[in-house]
Amino acid sequence: MGTLNEKKILLIISGGIAAYKILDLIRNLKKKNCEIKTILTESAKEFVTSLSIASLSQNKVYENKFDLNNEIEMDHIALSRWCDIILIAPTTANLISRLASGSADDFISTVISASNKDIFLVPAMNVEMWNNPATEENVKTLLKYKYKFIGPVVGDLACGEVGEGKMSSINEIENTLAHYFAKKNNSFSKLKAVVTAGPTREYLDPVRYLSNESSGKQGYEIAKKLFDSGFDTTLITGPTNLNYPENLKIIRVTSAQEMLEQCQNLFPIDIAVCAAAVVDFQPNYQSEKIKKEESSEYNFKLSKNVDILKHLSNHVKYRPKLVIGFAAETNNILENSLKKIKDKNCDWIIANDISDKSIGFNSDNNEVTIIYKNQQIEKISKAAKSEIASEIVNRIIKSLGTNNVRNIN
Ligand SMILES: Cc1cc2nc3c(=O)[nH]c(=O)nc-3n(C[C@H](O)[C@H](O)[C@H](O)COP(=O)(O)O)c2cc1C
Repeated sequence: MGTLNEKKILLIISGGIAAYKILDLIRNLKKKNCEIKTILTESAKEFVTSLSIASLSQNKVYENKFDLNNEIEMDHIALSRWCDIILIAPTTANLISRLASGSADDFISTVISASNKDIFLVPAMNVEMWNNPATEENVKTLLKYKYKFIGPVVGDLACGEVGEGKMSSINEIENTLAHYFAKKNNSFSKLKAVVTAGPTREYLDPVRYLSNESSGKQGYEIAKKLFDSGFDTTLITGPTNLNYPENLKIIRVTSAQEMLEQCQNLFPIDIAVCAAAVVDFQPNYQSEKIKKEESSEYNFKLSKNVDILKHLSNHVKYRPKLVIGFAAETNNILENSLKKIKDKNCDWIIANDISDKSIGFNSDNNEVTIIYKNQQIEKISKAAKSEIASEIVNRIIKSLGTNNVRNIN
């Protein structure tokens, strides 16, 4: 049984168009043996019916009203004591604003203000509503109050526009909750995971360097998800402009050599995810700035750079139990990845097609194919990088069950 087994979830549904998708979430959570009680806002009842929710959840559905019979048992307190978590999906801009203001003038806001549990918000709305300065301020406030956000992601919105505001997929909601409970159980706290991300820079002289277009987004998302699942996670990153979550251990490096040394400093590592786009070649470094006036042509010599993935995969003493490499390819993706897995001796290669501009470097979305050492191949369809990261972490967690990784509880 998974980490969601027998978990009690208080589900609050507010009035967004994405509410219909929550029926699938309830079905899936029930299959995973969760117990679910639901509260619907008045607006939510315009989008889904109490009857369908009650049938699928096989449990009580509350309205957003104080009810004399329920309140004999002080339900606005009892509900939050009963549940393991509160999940609000979808969360409207309106409810976000009410939570940020701390109101407690109806059943839902009173349950929430009386809650002693972690509260997950799954926002879903039009891109302009999400980017509205008032919503942005409210979200900042809720983050300060330690509400946990799942999404939203960038994508096609119900109104026909495209942008950030799309509700995270049902899969992503389930994965996030499963990872949360794994962390609560301390299932992976003794396993050290190291993720490399971003580009490296190889300097020609004090001001010029070779690098690439990697944004680091996919690696950061994997590190976040490993961290959120309770792994002892360190992110080793080349130069990027990305934010990273509080408490995640982060080491900033510039060159491939530094990235390798930082990996070595962390030995023994249980899981290594090499998502960094390491520059393959290293120029001869000139400590004096190259003068452009000196010649109309400048030739420089490149030598092969350190190969971090190969180094970790072939380490005699400290080979991690699971070594995952990435392959950013423009053609013959499968063929090249299968060759790479053999050459490097890693366990999986996660390949993506960077010739497709809607995925890969700098994009918020990705679509990847995982090639396993045993030549099995598995495609993860196009989704937000955060959602791809959850799927990858799910597979890492599953592989631990069969790989006899040390120290697993
Ligand atoms: C057809 C329709 C779709 C809507 N979709 C959304 C939505 O996706 N997200 C959102 O924040 N508000 C949406 N709204 C607006 C909310 O329903 C409205 O703000 C309502 O007051 C929310 O109430 P609640 O937060 O109590 O559920 C929609 C309204 C309509 C009429």
